[in-house]
Amino acid sequence: MKVPISSPLRGACPAKREAKPFLKWAGGKGQLINQIKEFLPPEFVKAGRIEKYFEPFVGGGAVFFWLSQHYQIKKAYLYDINPEVVIAYQTIRDSVPKLIKNLKGLESEYSSLHKPARENFYYSKREEYNELLNKKGSNGFILRTALMIFLNKTCFNGLFRVNSRGLFNVPSGRYENPAICDTENLLAVHAALGCAEIECRDFAHCLKKADNQSLVYFDPPYRPISRTASFTGYIKNGFADGEQIRLKEVCDRLTEIGAKVILSNSDPKNIDPHDHFLDDLFKRNYEIRRLAATRMINCNAEKRGVIKEILVRNYALKD
Ligand SMILES: C[S@@+](CC[C@H](N)C(=O)[O-])C[C@H]1O[C@@H](n2cnc3c(N)ncnc32)[C@H](O)[C@@H]1O
Repeated sequence: MKVPISSPLRGACPAKREAKPFLKWAGGKGQLINQIKEFLPPEFVKAGRIEKYFEPFVGGGAVFFWLSQHYQIKKAYLYDINPEVVIAYQTIRDSVPKLIKNLKGLESEYSSLHKPARENFYYSKREEYNELLNKKGSNGFILRTALMIFLNKTCFNGLFRVNSRGLFNVPSGRYENPAICDTENLLAVHAALGCAEIECRDFAHCLKKADNQSLVYFDPPYRPISRTASFTGYIKNGFADGEQIRLKEVCDRLTEIGAKVILSNSDPKNIDPHDHFLDDLFKRNYEIRRLAATRMINCNAEKRGVIKEILVRNYALKD
């Protein structure tokens, strides 16, 4: 059942309660928002309003959710190439009451169990989710999203990883009491998504809709920080240098259109101080800043530490 247009659950931006990402997502920008917000286009900051906001690599959507609480966003365009993420956003926007019911059921079953029964439960739900992934058509999206959120909250490190056959293969995590169904937040997210068009698209699709009233925030998958790091493994294919160059070309087109562009990326100099790839790529017509970040998801806990993140923009901060 879709939430009727007139339902009090269907919100408009900005949401009244504080919406936060409903998924743990590799490369999530939650920790950087306090820094990123200092670099927003001055005219949007002054107006407190953004006509068209694009987030073409939405993932967990940390920046969108923050902006939706602090700015009036007239229309948001959220894209991701990962269909599971897109289905989850659409389900929260269109069918939140049923989703909450399903998720509460999973939560109470899971919490009533002791280890290792919880682990067995996790793996049975992972199998059920993979069966749904293999099915064609739009049936079962509510259950699919409930299972995705459940697995995301209970799996190892909140990773989303699929194998060569496209099956979710992350092992069970070891959380004592994971918050599986955060009803308040799901309702707040639902309200924040009231202004959003959500589609499974390649990032370049934003060129079709952006104009000189638009803000586009790109947060692409990182270039791997080491040969073994698998930060580009959100879906089957990674994000190689050729893709970073294609993205820069999209930024150039947006600049010509008059859209404001802001882009995050991991600083290649974290690994090799002589790696000027991104500095060279954005040398002309862009401003580059470096922010301090803590890398959160790494299989080797000792390697979590402060690294630099690059922030590129196509506009000046002062007129
Ligand atoms: C670094 S994550 C975004 C994280 C997000 N900013 C957050 O706060 O959680 C990058 C996202 O880009 C998506 N992606 C990868 N290639 C893409 C493409 N060609 N077009 C659109 N999205 C893509 C991935 O599925 C992933 O969700």
